[in-house]
Amino acid sequence: MVNININGQDLTVRENCTILEAALINGFYIPTLCYHEALGFYGACRICVVEIAAPRGQILVASCAYPVSEGLIVKTDSERVINARKLILELLLADCPDAEIIKIMAARYGLIETRFPPEEEGKCILCGICVRACHNLVGAGAISLIKRGKNKAVSPPYESVTSACISCGTCETMCPTRAIDIKVFDRIKSLHEYEGRFHTQRCNICSKYHVDNEKPGSVNNWIEELQ
Ligand code: FES
Repeated sequence: MVNININGQDLTVRENCTILEAALINGFYIPTLCYHEALGFYGACRICVVEIAAPRGQILVASCAYPVSEGLIVKTDSERVINARKLILELLLADCPDAEIIKIMAARYGLIETRFPPEEEGKCILCGICVRACHNLVGAGAISLIKRGKNKAVSPPYESVTSACISCGTCETMCPTRAIDIKVFDRIKSLHEYEGRFHTQRCNICSKYHVDNEKPGSVNNWIEELQ
């Protein structure tokens, strides 16, 4: 066990846990987006930022990734922390104008609008939860984060048809912004609201869904229809 201080309160917490875990277990609220307890930390969104006392002064760290240590002093809601979270939320509001959870989080910090030019649409914050869940929990590996920078997106690997998706819906269930909307009707499956769509067919042997690339109306035909 180690002794730490959060917002002026002395606490004894488990060794090797993160600041986020120590805070949550002791009733301190820290917002998160890319963290999920079933998947561990990822460090992509930085909304969980907190301020700690370091040897060279106060610094901001991602609480989901930073381990506690003896004597650590943490502030979860200092002015610097609030300003950092507001900036992150403004960027997310601009990037994902359709994500309700981002609007709700922003409103908590008094933000209705963003200073940054907004995209026309978007819900995906690229937190990677869907991809990590598909790979690490389900073991299917049907989706990945592809491309870089502004073009980064969730998609089947190489933006190609994949037979790996088993229609389990884990990605949809765990997505914090509801960017993934799985619909299965007439053997046609839409995996992502804005990105890849591909057809599935239930396997007669294992009863799971697999991609049916040969049938009329397969993903290739669908892509042609969309173009
Ligand atoms: S929740 Fe910690 S970086 Fe996203």
